[in-house]
Amino acid sequence: MKTTESRELFTRARKHIPGGVNSPVRAFGSVGMEPRFIRSANGATLTDADGNAYIDYVGSWGPMILGHADPDVVEAVNRAARDGLSFGAPCGAEVEIAEVICRMTGVEMVRMVNSGTEAVMSALRAARGFTGRDKVVKFAGCYHGHADSMLVKAGSGLLTGGVPDSAGVSPVVAADTLTAVYNDLESVEELLRRHPDDVAAVIVEPVAANMGVVLPADGFLSGLRTLCDRFGALLIVDEVITGFRLGPGGAQAHFGVRADMATYGKIIGGGMPVGAYGGRRDIMETVAPLGPVYQAGTLAGNPVAMAAGLAQLRKLEQTKDAFSRLDALTARLADGLARTAKQAGAAVTVNRIGSLCCAFFTEGPVGNYEDAKRSDTKAYARYFAHMLERGIYLAPSQFEAMFVSLAHTGEMIDQTVAAAGEFF
Ligand SMILES: Cc1ncc(COP(=O)(O)O)c(C=O)c1O
Repeated sequence: MKTTESRELFTRARKHIPGGVNSPVRAFGSVGMEPRFIRSANGATLTDADGNAYIDYVGSWGPMILGHADPDVVEAVNRAARDGLSFGAPCGAEVEIAEVICRMTGVEMVRMVNSGTEAVMSALRAARGFTGRDKVVKFAGCYHGHADSMLVKAGSGLLTGGVPDSAGVSPVVAADTLTAVYNDLESVEELLRRHPDDVAAVIVEPVAANMGVVLPADGFLSGLRTLCDRFGALLIVDEVITGFRLGPGGAQAHFGVRADMATYGKIIGGGMPVGAYGGRRDIMETVAPLGPVYQAGTLAGNPVAMAAGLAQLRKLEQTKDAFSRLDALTARLADGLARTAKQAGAAVTVNRIGSLCCAFFTEGPVGNYEDAKRSDTKAYARYFAHMLERGIYLAPSQFEAMFVSLAHTGEMIDQTVAAAGEFF
């Protein structure tokens, strides 16, 4: 496979962009390779700068549920762009997307922002403002973007709070973030009992999709709901990955658990930079200009981004079998991976829900971060290289999801399973 153009671009990129990339995972560091620079994307296919084509299972890390360059989304973007790129004043598309999001998810009010990171940061501020409490509980292995308070790992003791997981995060900020174990309600209860009047919110990925894919155990999310009610903390579900992907109503509808607040991201931008946070009316009414919680954004609710998001959400809502098709395609993928791994005697565990899937290079089950970390990341790196060489573009890290879109076909899935089978 020719990679001259990508290599040349990476050499130039490293001179002026830290690590040559604008988001670290793109650098292919965890698989010990150099990134392919992408020239174009269409349907389920990426084409790189050297003209190599790949079946894509990254999908821009989640948003491309309809596939790349969906004609309806592209048309909506073109139409909106002709009417002006940004107004700095309200526009009709913002009202429409708020109506669609509230109708589909059940949140009562929603505020648009520009990324998932911003959505989470703002939701946490609103939760603190509403409750008058400072601490938040998150789960080891869950990713909620790069706001300071979320770049935190567990400290040495339950009383001490967290410690920074990145240089540049103040220990004072980190101390207000407590870390629990995914799928372990006792670890949450313990933290809440130690800090009975201090926890503003428990934030969770309702399906963890940033440590590979880890499903919530039966009763985990409803148990969080009960614990939050008992201790007066808000439950925030981070639906940046699950919203509009697990189904029209996201994880809240899928699992039948109602959170106080929810955060959304890339999916509601259809590939454009968008995020949103929303929830109960009484909480959202604390946000400026109605209330004392300040939050703003020059490009928030941008008309072109709103047009893209609306086009994707509407199409998903109107395509009757969208979610059952996604489910069937991804089941074919997951079952195929599990079957070929078993036939080969490879230690691989496949977790799947809806159109999210992950093959962990470890004996299962994988139910939390400690389990996920047992994966053989060197084997994953070799698997990644093998698949890439066969024209299959996976996430360049063991701890990410495979995203299936409506543009994938049964043949693409079978081709993927066959290539993985060779490796196993
Ligand atoms: C669950 C979750 N929350 C938040 C974020 C942050 O979103 P963004 O990268 O748009 O800031 C991500 C990013 O992948 C995510 O997966």
